[in-house]
Amino acid sequence: MGRMAALAPGSNIQPIYELLTASTGWRKCIITPGRQAAAFVPWEKFTAQPIRLARGTAIKVVTRAGKNEHTVTLDPERWAERLSEALEAGPCHLDVLGGEVDWHARRTRAGHWLVSKSRPSLPAAGEAPLAAHDRAAHHALRLDSQAVRALFVELGLFAPSGQPRSDMAGKVQQVQHFVELLRTLDAWGQDRVRVVDAGCGKAYLSLSLALWARESGAAVELDAVDSSPDVVETVARIAASAGLADVRTHAKTIAEFVSAEREPVDLLVSLHACDTATDEALAAGVLLGAKALVLVPCCHQELSDQMTETVKAGAAPARDGWQGVVRHGLLQHRLADIVTDALRAAALEALGYRVAVVEFVSPEATARNLMIRAELRRRRDQRAEANALARYRALAAQWGVHPALEKLLGERWPAN
Ligand SMILES: C[S@@+](CC[C@H](N)C(=O)[O-])C[C@H]1O[C@@H](n2cnc3c(N)ncnc32)[C@H](O)[C@@H]1O
Repeated sequence: MGRMAALAPGSNIQPIYELLTASTGWRKCIITPGRQAAAFVPWEKFTAQPIRLARGTAIKVVTRAGKNEHTVTLDPERWAERLSEALEAGPCHLDVLGGEVDWHARRTRAGHWLVSKSRPSLPAAGEAPLAAHDRAAHHALRLDSQAVRALFVELGLFAPSGQPRSDMAGKVQQVQHFVELLRTLDAWGQDRVRVVDAGCGKAYLSLSLALWARESGAAVELDAVDSSPDVVETVARIAASAGLADVRTHAKTIAEFVSAEREPVDLLVSLHACDTATDEALAAGVLLGAKALVLVPCCHQELSDQMTETVKAGAAPARDGWQGVVRHGLLQHRLADIVTDALRAAALEALGYRVAVVEFVSPEATARNLMIRAELRRRRDQRAEANALARYRALAAQWGVHPALEKLLGERWPAN
């Protein structure tokens, strides 16, 4: 496929196109379709990065549509074609990071490009080596890196000798998959990224994420929050031994942490925080202005109890079509899990986030394998927010539930 009108020589997008196709002097290219193009472009986000393979340089392209991500590795010629197709698909935003400057471009409905530059938010590609592609395992964290091995030893994932422990292989896979799922977030596209791990436990996932980010050239600060003082002491020790300097620990509940915090957050993660601690984490992310939230909920007791009351009272919908479900305790409990997470997802959408609900790891590793991944929309979409709020209200009213989340969000919750 040849180059089309908007990419013709002389067009002001041309220098960016040349940079992306004739060099590897960039680290990340992100294309998001404009609203008018969203209906016919089959992806919501297109992310590309140069990688080094044994046979030479290639470009890894990840396209995301809803909860589905598709990854391909392209040779330079096919990359040039794929890029033209993506840029020609319709109005879109293009960001290119990691060169001497960051480029930001917008393609208008009329096919014109509005181009601007800013100072680089990532180290230039020439300064930091290209992300080497671990072809054997497609891993984000390179297991031959000394820093990764040191951290994994501290976390107990590797033996003290630095060799992998066979009984921890599943956990290592989880860590890799977690980093893989989070590496495409827009939140990384800036000088310094502040991450909060809410209900961090031993923080093996967020410490690994912080190390991946550091190894990829980003400056990361990690705030690890847990109500257990013993746990945060362990995190502080692991971080210090693994040479992760910008890790702060907080022996507080998530709610206490957020009420004492003023600094904005870029990314909030919360994994398997119990019951409504996930809601505390969600509210913390929203209140601290997080650009992205990644939640892997744990047990769901709150709404299960409320739904049981609805069922006992014989109120709709329990007495209608759902009777076949709610008469079995186990099924009712699982339904409560689904309603809880659907309400969390709808709440985040109502608050301006684009949300995907994906599987974190295989259900064989843990039954609690659902991940809610939310990214703040660059531009507000009031209609999407209103629709999400209506969905939230309809579902909550149908089951007669009042999630703690609404109170935790305080004035930020549109209905409060
Ligand atoms: C099941 S562990 C998960 C730990 C870690 N995130 C992981 O995935 O390995 C849950 C952690 O959340 C902490 N926690 C529970 N409720 C909390 C709250 N309201 N505020 C802060 N931490 C909380 C507990 O102390 C515990 O360490």
